[in-house]
Amino acid sequence: MKGIILAGGAGSRLYPVSQIYSKQLTLIYDKPLIYFPLSILMLAGIRDILIISNEETIPHYQKLFQNGNHLGLSISYQVQKAPNGIAESFILGESFIGNDPVSLILGDNIFYGYLDFFYNAIQKNEGATVFGYRVNDPERYGVVEFDKDGNAISIEEKPKNPKSKFAVPGLYVYNNEVVEISKNLKPSPRGELEITDVNTTYLNQGKLRVEKIGRGVAWLDTGTPEALLQASNFFGAIEDRQGLKVACIEEVAYYKNFISLGELETVTGKMPNCMYRDYLNKVIAEAKE
Ligand code: G1P
Repeated sequence: MKGIILAGGAGSRLYPVSQIYSKQLTLIYDKPLIYFPLSILMLAGIRDILIISNEETIPHYQKLFQNGNHLGLSISYQVQKAPNGIAESFILGESFIGNDPVSLILGDNIFYGYLDFFYNAIQKNEGATVFGYRVNDPERYGVVEFDKDGNAISIEEKPKNPKSKFAVPGLYVYNNEVVEISKNLKPSPRGELEITDVNTTYLNQGKLRVEKIGRGVAWLDTGTPEALLQASNFFGAIEDRQGLKVACIEEVAYYKNFISLGELETVTGKMPNCMYRDYLNKVIAEAKE
């Protein structure tokens, strides 16, 4: 299974900071937003990852992650020249995907809690698997409609009159057909290759599974300054209470056996003195107990 993180978008709702750096680099409490989706792919055992973004931002990601080898990953980068839509990821990523299935996560999507819904989808997926998450404001998202038996019957992108409260989060699992399906899409009225059109194609072919995510999982929004503050407070509270960090990618790499304890020590040793380094030193000390 390959993994793609799409970290594009103008982030104009975060103006003025959006003039100088992209939303996925903003701090969520103590680390850049993109650490969260990256850690979700890592936790699912995905080690071959493509980060897609605009030309100005790619160098920042390269500085953060290099080729990923220090995390036991292979990370490559792809420029998306213009915001042509989420589904363009599979066209830009065609050679990276090769003949494999692929999971896509949007660089501004945060999930917290039991991730079994995602791990199971990776195991069981045949065509496409997407998720449904109950939200208060479904009109801002792709919205899935279910029949009485709980089968998905339609998905609409940002409908004015949503047919349910279930939004489709930015985390998707596809078989290899997604590349061809994306190549055959026509741009929507807003000029984008819509991920909802990819999902509708699978739905019409009877190859789409929509799994509801339970209320015990947090799917957080990061679109506005208020939402960023809420997410920072949420993770600040959890990290402070447990003494454990969320989305600490070096710790995840060690926990998943992508790197050895010695490699974790090397990576940590290169960090400047800071709370993040102190935390990893604590992880290392506990591993040696
Ligand atoms: C995109 C998708 C939408 C999905 C959302 C999840 O919306 O088009 O279907 O529900 O991501 O974050 P956008 O972020 O482009 O508004």
